[in-house]
Amino acid sequence: MPKLLEVANLRTQFHTTEGTVKAVDGITYDVSEGETVAIVGESGCGKSVGAMSILRLIPHPPGEILAGSSIRFGGRDLLAMSGAEIRHVRGGQISMVFQEPMTSLNPVLTIGMQLTETMMLHMGLSQAEADRRAVELLGMVGIGEPERRLKQYPHHFSGGMRQRVMIALALSCKPRLIIADEPTTALDVTIQAQILELMRNLTKQMGVALIVITHNLGVVARYAERVIVMYAGKIVESGTADQIYHNPHHPYTIGLLNSVPRMDLHRGKRLVPIEGQPPDLTRLDDGCSYRPRCQWAVESCGQSIPALEAVGDGQIAACFRANDLQLDEASSA
Ligand SMILES: Nc1ncnc2c1ncn2[C@@H]1O[C@H](COP(=O)(O)OP(=O)(O)OP(=O)(O)O)[C@@H](O)[C@H]1O
Ligand SMILES: [Mg+2]
Repeated sequence: MPKLLEVANLRTQFHTTEGTVKAVDGITYDVSEGETVAIVGESGCGKSVGAMSILRLIPHPPGEILAGSSIRFGGRDLLAMSGAEIRHVRGGQISMVFQEPMTSLNPVLTIGMQLTETMMLHMGLSQAEADRRAVELLGMVGIGEPERRLKQYPHHFSGGMRQRVMIALALSCKPRLIIADEPTTALDVTIQAQILELMRNLTKQMGVALIVITHNLGVVARYAERVIVMYAGKIVESGTADQIYHNPHHPYTIGLLNSVPRMDLHRGKRLVPIEGQPPDLTRLDDGCSYRPRCQWAVESCGQSIPALEAVGDGQIAACFRANDLQLDEASSA
């Protein structure tokens, strides 16, 4: 599949009174047309800042996307676009689904108005065409009696139903890419799984690429083709979902896997949380930033930052000891 999104050496920083926060520190990845990719990591590792950078939604100041960063979408350079051009991409070709739908849905407008307004604006549909498509979209996301539901306001919908409305909104302008930032954390686990499955199925059907951002490596498992693991502003490992779940090579990936319930293996296995805290992003040193929490760290880990290197077919990891580690060691060590 041709590449749709190509992020290269993206660096995004915030200049604060505490110092410079290196929120995203040189990440490179791509997403193919129609592909589902999960970006995983603990709170504060730069997942949202990375996503907001793609859409140029970083407040400036204090934020800044550094020179040398590159973000290409469908071959076009997003960082070089004018304000009008990037707004056009945001409304039409890339849509975002946020964590808390209550904050992204307008409480004083009916669901129908919110759906039809964007379609009339971005796709030039007439009111009648937009109404028809809104009914169709609500049906697609599994909301019954769509004609009646379109006349209701967001507070008439449960959390899971609002999330479905958000997906309908995201799909309404026929985007080529949807970025879903922690789309399901506010929901219980069964509904989370339903929402992720719905998103995956609809994007597959429509050939839309999907980036799912989450801190939960347990639940996203079944929904992504590829997984990117971030730690302290950097990508530390990436590979197919199969590689990441069954043959992880970075100690942080192994730690994450051992700390969450898994749907696939080790049923009943004891969960081991990762001890310690992620580093302060204003005070990163010249070594691997995971080393204070890493049970495999050796002297060289403090001397330079390990680069991402191939550890399998298309799988990469940034660890000097990547080839010494096994998934099961983490629980016995
Ligand atoms: N406007 C801002 N000013 C200063 N620092 C910021 C700003 N926005 C984000 N940051 C910092 O950038 C870093 C990355 O934040 P980001 O929101 O991307 O994390 P995240 O991985 O999405 O976490 P979570 O899982 O909690 O959503 C954090 O250290 C955060 O404090
Ligand atoms: Mg976030």
